[in-house]
Amino acid sequence: MSKKYTITAALPYANGALHLGHLAGAYLPADIYARYLRLLGKDVLFVCGSDEHGAAITIRAKKEKRSPQEIIDTYHQLNKQTFEHLGISFDMYHRTSDPLHHQTAQEFFLNLLDKGGQFEEKVSDQYYDEDFDQFLADRYITGTCPKENCGNEEAFGDQCEKCGSALSPTELINPISTLSKKTPVLKKTKHWFFKLDNHAAWLKDWINKGQIEGQFSHNPAQWKKHVLGQCASWIDNGLHPRAITRDLSWGIPVPIEGAEGKVLYVWFDAPIGYISASKQWAQENGKNWESYWKGSSVELVHFIGKDNIVFHCIVFPAMLKAHGDFALPKNVPANQFLNLEGRKFSKSKGWVIEQHQYLKDFESFHNKEDALRYALIRTLPENKDGDFKWDEFVALHDNELVANLGNFVNRVTSLTHKNFAAKVPAYTAAAKLKDIEEGAVVTVAAAMQQLKQKIEHLEASITKYEFKQAVQLLMEISSYGNTLLQRNEPWKIWKQDPESVEAAALLNLSLQIVTALSVLSQPFLPFSSAQMRNLLALDPVKDGSLAQLKIQLEQAGVLIEEGHQIEAPQLLFAKINDRKDKSRMELVEQQKEKLKQLKALNTKTEIPQKQAYKATCTFDDFTKVDLRTGTIVRAEKVKKANKLLKLEVDLGDEVRTIVSGIAKHYEASAIIGQQVVVVANLAPRKMMGILSEGMILMAENANGQLIFVSPISEAEEGGVVK
Ligand code: 2FM
Ligand code: ZN
Repeated sequence: MSKKYTITAALPYANGALHLGHLAGAYLPADIYARYLRLLGKDVLFVCGSDEHGAAITIRAKKEKRSPQEIIDTYHQLNKQTFEHLGISFDMYHRTSDPLHHQTAQEFFLNLLDKGGQFEEKVSDQYYDEDFDQFLADRYITGTCPKENCGNEEAFGDQCEKCGSALSPTELINPISTLSKKTPVLKKTKHWFFKLDNHAAWLKDWINKGQIEGQFSHNPAQWKKHVLGQCASWIDNGLHPRAITRDLSWGIPVPIEGAEGKVLYVWFDAPIGYISASKQWAQENGKNWESYWKGSSVELVHFIGKDNIVFHCIVFPAMLKAHGDFALPKNVPANQFLNLEGRKFSKSKGWVIEQHQYLKDFESFHNKEDALRYALIRTLPENKDGDFKWDEFVALHDNELVANLGNFVNRVTSLTHKNFAAKVPAYTAAAKLKDIEEGAVVTVAAAMQQLKQKIEHLEASITKYEFKQAVQLLMEISSYGNTLLQRNEPWKIWKQDPESVEAAALLNLSLQIVTALSVLSQPFLPFSSAQMRNLLALDPVKDGSLAQLKIQLEQAGVLIEEGHQIEAPQLLFAKINDRKDKSRMELVEQQKEKLKQLKALNTKTEIPQKQAYKATCTFDDFTKVDLRTGTIVRAEKVKKANKLLKLEVDLGDEVRTIVSGIAKHYEASAIIGQQVVVVANLAPRKMMGILSEGMILMAENANGQLIFVSPISEAEEGGVVK
């Protein structure tokens, strides 16, 4: 059976517009991967859709005095269209309110129930609003956060958004129902719990060894460290039964007698949404959905943000295994978070760039879709949090898209028009050119070999889910072409000798490179790729184009034929920081101004007292401190010490235990994968009975929040900081 690639991207809640953090977290990387596999001619199914249940949706509906249905209809449409506009190439964008999904989720529940042993029924105390005569979902209860030094009076029953702690409703001080604004009472209710604890043993082997029932399932070395770290921390802390039903009126009814008024918990039904979306797609396209979910030829990959790791690496796999038949994910390349100009995206504070708003604000901006895709790919939070900055957006656009890729394509097409009447000149394998290294010479055939190798590198990065690196390699190919042109200056040669074989061969080589770029850029920059194909007068890139390109390179040695006529040159990108036309820069300035004003509004007025500088130390004193880069691979709270976290930091050749006073600033699970700077030769000392073998460096912001000191791009583990 031929391999089937099932790619999923986290179903976003349909209770609001999505921002750039969402795009960089899951949808853009998933799209790059799906597009790449399609280019290779693989059998790909790429699904997503709206997550339309859960309390967040009913709360929004209540606030806006609309029905939940109206809310989900609005945002389902908006998000679906925005994704399409940005070129996110889902095969199916489904929705969990669809009857097909309700049926699929209910069948899944019944399957596990019938199996026996997967669920247990438990009666527990839950908050109940007597005025409204209903049990309260965690999000419907607010109160004071119980964490010391937090005191947030608007913490939710499941989480405090000020200090980031995960809470349960009974921990809140002075709980209040958001419905009646009164204190809720505790009342007994029955729920179904999925016995996750029964799955702990195989999950541990599956995640850490990539083995299931003695069979190879995946190579754990290919999973991201922060994903493995989070999984290990969940498993080590013990897996417990999880309630998978709720007392709510909005959701999928629990399909058994005695469960009236209860629905499936949103996190039980949402991942099943991937299966329903596949069913819908199969129905519409005459396919068999099961062949994309069951059997050994399935390669399932979930693209998500780091807050969804436990659900996709532990809970959903356990559900799939309990059901039987289903394949488990081959990889879950979760991303960390993207920040905006150094701060977390926050809708309530307005600190956000929504995808649809960007498209609207940049309406007149040429190729705005790829401009955004590129800036985001270059800052993807693949292994550590990333930061979107408008100045960087401009720099990446102008220095890389315009000055490198756009310039190369434009130069090559213009030279072809000017010197060869728009026809591809002759290919001469043996023609000699000045190579990109000063003084070196290369033949056209050898340069084509270089191109082949560069393509292999780029592909290797994509296969490792390193898209940031892959897009840089794409740009290196363009830069290689640009440098060859610059070194050889064919325009000077043609002035003396319009018949020069070498100059014609160089232009042919350049056209070969542009043709390769037109295919290779498609997963990253689909709009520019389409434009390049137009310029080259070649068919649009389609499924299998990259496979075809590789065959052509291997067999014919060329990608575009001599004598082929191309179209008139056209710019792929228009410079933002352009002295003659300030319109694009003005758009960016408006965005910056908006954030500047918000910052002023949100910044505390009192200026914190700066700590006095310490007494001078000599250079020799300073060099005694051994600073190293490392990555937090495990983190847990130190019992009975509310300020301390016990961290395990990977320094390359060893993993150190370090006790750090940052528990009030960070949740343990949120910092796994964070790269840090460690004082490696600090004398070990015991804290709360734990030997701490070093210290990590933290900076403090104006609000007293501690922030990690970390290299701006990933550094080697254990590397010296000097
Ligand atoms: O975190 C979220 O936005 C969830 N709606 C993701 C669900 S992913 C999957 F399980 F569907
Ligand atoms: Zn708190």
